[in-house]
Amino acid sequence: MLIKSIKSLNNGLNIFWSDSSSSCYPWLWLRDHSQSQGDLHPDSKQRQIDVFSNPPSNSVNKVSLDKDSKHVFIKWTDKTESSLSFELLQSNAEPSLPQSNALNSSSFWNSSVEITSFPEMSYEEVMGNKGLKTWLTHIQRVGFVIVTKTPATPEATKELMERMAYIRNSIFGGFSVWDNKLESPDDTAFTSLAIEPHTDGTYVHDAPGLQTLHCIRRDSIGGENQLIDGLAIAEKMRHEHPDAFNILCNVNIPGRYIKPNTYLEAHRPLFRINNNGEVIQVSFNNHDRAPFRLENNQMNKFYNAYKIFHNLANDPSRQMEFMLEPGKVLTFDNWRLLHARSSLTGYRQLCGGYHNREDFESKLRSI
Ligand SMILES: [Fe+2]
Repeated sequence: MLIKSIKSLNNGLNIFWSDSSSSCYPWLWLRDHSQSQGDLHPDSKQRQIDVFSNPPSNSVNKVSLDKDSKHVFIKWTDKTESSLSFELLQSNAEPSLPQSNALNSSSFWNSSVEITSFPEMSYEEVMGNKGLKTWLTHIQRVGFVIVTKTPATPEATKELMERMAYIRNSIFGGFSVWDNKLESPDDTAFTSLAIEPHTDGTYVHDAPGLQTLHCIRRDSIGGENQLIDGLAIAEKMRHEHPDAFNILCNVNIPGRYIKPNTYLEAHRPLFRINNNGEVIQVSFNNHDRAPFRLENNQMNKFYNAYKIFHNLANDPSRQMEFMLEPGKVLTFDNWRLLHARSSLTGYRQLCGGYHNREDFESKLRSI
C-alpha cells in the first residue's frame, strides 16, 4: 500500500491509500506522533514533544508529501514542523486498541506427535552465528527447545542462557545450581517428590518468561519431565467448554509462596487474554493456589472449570515426556507450557534459571 494523495480537513488529515481506502488522522495525534528530530529523540526514540503542558493550537499552515511519498510534513502556524513516516502512518491506518502479544496459536500441540520438526539443536549451533535466532524461533513456535551436547557444567549452561539475555533474579536467586538433597528445601522443585503440571511464579505479578533447566549430574531412577501445551488446552476449552473458558479468563486466582520472613502473593486469571480474546498467558499451579471463596454458585462453576483444565493438563496423552540428562538443556516458555516431574530415587544435580518475557520478545523482534 502506498500514499496516493492527502487532503486537509477541519478535524484532521485525510490520507488516501493506493488500495482506494482512506484514513483520517486527527491533528493532535499527528503532532503527538511527530518523528522530527526535536519531537522524537533520534537515538533513544523517546518522545520529546509534549502536547499537554502547552496544548498547541493545531492550526495548520501547510501540509506536504515528499516526492517518494515516504513522509508527510506539517507546518503549523506557530512555526513548528512535524514529520511522520509512511511506515508509522500505515501501521496506524486502522484505529484499534493496543494489544499485548498473543501466544503463537498457529502451532499449538495436543500431544507430542503433533510437534512437527522437533525443536532440538546442538550447543555449538546455538552458540554460533545464526543459532540464537533458531533457538528463539523454536520456543516461539512450539514453546520449548532442547540444546544437546552442552558441556555438563554450570558455566556452560550460564553462558548459553546469557547468549539470549541477562538472567532474571527471583526468590531462588539468579542463575542457580541445586540438588535433591537439600536439608530444608523451600520448594518441591528441590526434592525428589513428583510435581503436578504447573507454571512457575503464579505468586509473582510478572511470572518468569522462560525457564532453563540442565541436569548436570544424574545418578537416579525416575524423575522424568513432562511438558504440556497450555495454549492447546486453552483453545480446546474455548471451543468445547466456552463457559468454563470464560470463567478461567475472569477469576483472578491467587497464588502464594510462604517461607519464614517471606509471603509472596499475586493474582491472575488462569487464561490471560488480550482485547481480541487471544491468549497471552497461561498461569496454573494447584500446589501454590491460595485460599479464596466465591459465592457458592460461582465457586462450583469455578471448580468445574478448573477441574476441566486440571484433568486435561494431567492427561498423559497431552504430555511430552523426556529425561533431563547431562548435556541436554531444556528451555521452555513459562507463559505457555506447563511442566511436571515424576518422583525419583537417587541423586540429581541441576542448574538453570529464568529469563524475563520481554527480553525474549525483544530478541525475537530485533534479531
Ligand atoms: Fe516448576
